[in-house]
Amino acid sequence: MFRRASERAGGLPQNDKGKGHMTLDDLETPAALVDVERMEANLRRAAEYCRAHGLEWRPHAKTHKTPELAAEQVRLGAVGVTVATPREAEVMATAVDDILLAYPPFGASKLERLMRLPEHVRLTVGLDSAEALDALAEAARRAGRTAGVLVELDAGMGRVGLGSPEHAVELARRASETPGVEYRGIMFYPGHIRGPVAEQDEALAALDVCLGERIVALSEAGLRPRVVSGGSTPTFWRSHEVAGITELRPGTNIFNDRTTAEIGACAWDECAYSVLATVVSTAVAGQAVVDAGSKALAKEELRATGGGYGALLEHPEVVVKAVSEEHGLLDLAGTEWRPRVGERVRIVPNHVCVSVNLQERLWGVRGGEVAAEWEIAGRGRAPWVARAQTAAIG
Ligand SMILES: Cc1ncc(COP(=O)(O)O)c(C=O)c1O
Repeated sequence: MFRRASERAGGLPQNDKGKGHMTLDDLETPAALVDVERMEANLRRAAEYCRAHGLEWRPHAKTHKTPELAAEQVRLGAVGVTVATPREAEVMATAVDDILLAYPPFGASKLERLMRLPEHVRLTVGLDSAEALDALAEAARRAGRTAGVLVELDAGMGRVGLGSPEHAVELARRASETPGVEYRGIMFYPGHIRGPVAEQDEALAALDVCLGERIVALSEAGLRPRVVSGGSTPTFWRSHEVAGITELRPGTNIFNDRTTAEIGACAWDECAYSVLATVVSTAVAGQAVVDAGSKALAKEELRATGGGYGALLEHPEVVVKAVSEEHGLLDLAGTEWRPRVGERVRIVPNHVCVSVNLQERLWGVRGGEVAAEWEIAGRGRAPWVARAQTAAIG
């Protein structure tokens, strides 16, 4: 089903001792693991939810940045993917033909890169200003292409997006009248709703009112949005409670993470991503030190109770209480578990997207075996160059 790195050589990834299939023991730590069965189950559940509620599924590829996984999302029913950077767009274009750039592209080189995406890519861009719209339209006209536009609304997060219905109507009208772009609808990101799933009633009700007002204003102006793009992992399972949404863009829930579990948007055994690490020291009482620090787990605060920077998959009560760049300090105060030096553990980070971004590859694991190796090709900013071309240049 997945393209395995080892397919190049035939068969499963081999260890370097010529002794057969790679196992977890063959991986040097820290290493980013994906439990393939859990990931597949997470994707199937998300796809089923969308189907059950008549919503389109356009997962955000910023979480995995890996074209093989985007292809799998499409195979399971995604209409396309969402991206945040030109690099992600370039990489995803190798696997997907419908891409939403949910980030306003500013600067000539970014626009040129978007216009150089292969012809088969149906591109839509989310933006919130006349400046971004006009620059996109001009680049598209010059390239002889048409770019779709979603007018971005601020539905309460206060990051980007137009606040008032009048401003949304104004920009939608401009998009509908500007050659080079096609007005396709609106988008918003409910990133301000991060609390426990069971406590989101009030915020979702406010979102419903906010969105409803804007859809009515646009419709009365003859600009009814065909696409109303929203969704996030914390609100994912309650998205159907907000009227008018047509598509969802969850990113995190392909893998889930400690934050997602803490707020009840997934179960602990639905966490599919972990960083495999080795205990390198138990010299200081009350703690064990592993070789995964901020450069493997990231140093993102937990947005829920519990503190620390991650927790052990097999011992969730053990938290990474502190990190330096290459050291992670496991707090042993609340556990009977006493690790040996050399023992390996799997750590679920607070925020999976930023941890993946620190890795070079993902190791797909089934049981104890390494079943796949995926290059995280969408990392970084530079224009993406296919491997074969890299080799030719080198
Ligand atoms: C614009 C936009 N859409 C969708 C997402 C996906 O949200 P989540 O990671 O909560 O699934 C993000 C996440 O940052 C985002 O910024």
